[in-house]
Amino acid sequence: MKQPVIIVNNLVKKINNKLVLNNISFNVERREIFGYLGPNGAGKTTTLRILLGLMKPTSGKALVLGDDLSKNINLRRKVGVVLENDGLYNKLTAYENLDFYSRIYGVSNDSERNRKIKELLDLVGLYDEKDKKVGYYSRGMRRRLAIARALIHDPEIVFMDEPTSGLDPEAKITIRNLISQLAKERDATIFLISHDLDEVERLCSRVAILVNGRIAALNTTRKLIHSLERKSIEITFKNMEDAMEAAKYLDNKRILYNLHGNSIRIFYQDSNISRILKPLAIMGLKIIDIKRNEESLYNVYLKIVRGGKYEPHIYPN
Ligand SMILES: Nc1ncnc2c1ncn2[C@@H]1O[C@H](COP(=O)(O)OP(=O)(O)OP(=O)(O)O)[C@@H](O)[C@H]1O
Ligand SMILES: [Mg+2]
Repeated sequence: MKQPVIIVNNLVKKINNKLVLNNISFNVERREIFGYLGPNGAGKTTTLRILLGLMKPTSGKALVLGDDLSKNINLRRKVGVVLENDGLYNKLTAYENLDFYSRIYGVSNDSERNRKIKELLDLVGLYDEKDKKVGYYSRGMRRRLAIARALIHDPEIVFMDEPTSGLDPEAKITIRNLISQLAKERDATIFLISHDLDEVERLCSRVAILVNGRIAALNTTRKLIHSLERKSIEITFKNMEDAMEAAKYLDNKRILYNLHGNSIRIFYQDSNISRILKPLAIMGLKIIDIKRNEESLYNVYLKIVRGGKYEPHIYPN
């Protein structure tokens, strides 16, 4: 079995006597896009700093590609980083910035360097702007260039701390597409810190939710949503008699519902709603409206963050 590319084990970090990370453990597998979520101050960036070897843990392990990045300098070549501070030089053009970083990583062959820089500029959609000084770049352009910079040495893992924060919706989509492309086409593993739950839901195969320095939830995105979800459908009948008639049927079938006036909210677990709807229609009940509600990572996140813990609902069959 292949070793996970990131291993965090019983990690503890105390800063000024405050327990910032309280015994956290999780793994990230190769080629995963792993979402790391949590409210402001939860300890996400602190975890990242420790993983990158920029901060020492108080106790516990934080290994990247099987080793400690603070000790194994060679390993850093396999890691790309997109942080809040993008490390770009305002007075250099985009091309020059990438050229600079490429040389730092030791690509001495001119044509090889040139090819790589062009490829990346193209990937992030900045080729036409390559000769503009980065000081004149917009925020979204800077972010895209920061991602290109993080990829200049073909890293196996890319760590990103809120890569799309503050970007307009279209720029967000561009960067999201880029992230998913990285994982799919370049076999990269992505560790993504984000407050954008829609983004995480779309991109990440697994997520951890950190609350007050503890992992409050860790699962595949799908399972997390499913384990906490409470899908419901609201059916409005033409009159109350029909709604009562439907309620009787639901009682008989032991299906969970709430009745409000001539509307019924039915809770269900499988996606085959027609199993519930069809009999109601066959009974001749007059339905005038149907609304469907589904849980999203957004709701699940709020429940976990607010409640600390969340008890899954129990459904009738
Ligand atoms: N060098 C430091 N000195 C003092 N306190 C620190 C230091 N680094 C982090 N902290 C504290 O640790 C806690 C976690 O901070 P961290 O930056 O990891 O949060 P975060 O989850 O990344 O939050 P955000 O979503 O706001 O970026 C905060 O209370 C912060 O003030
Ligand atoms: Mg942070």
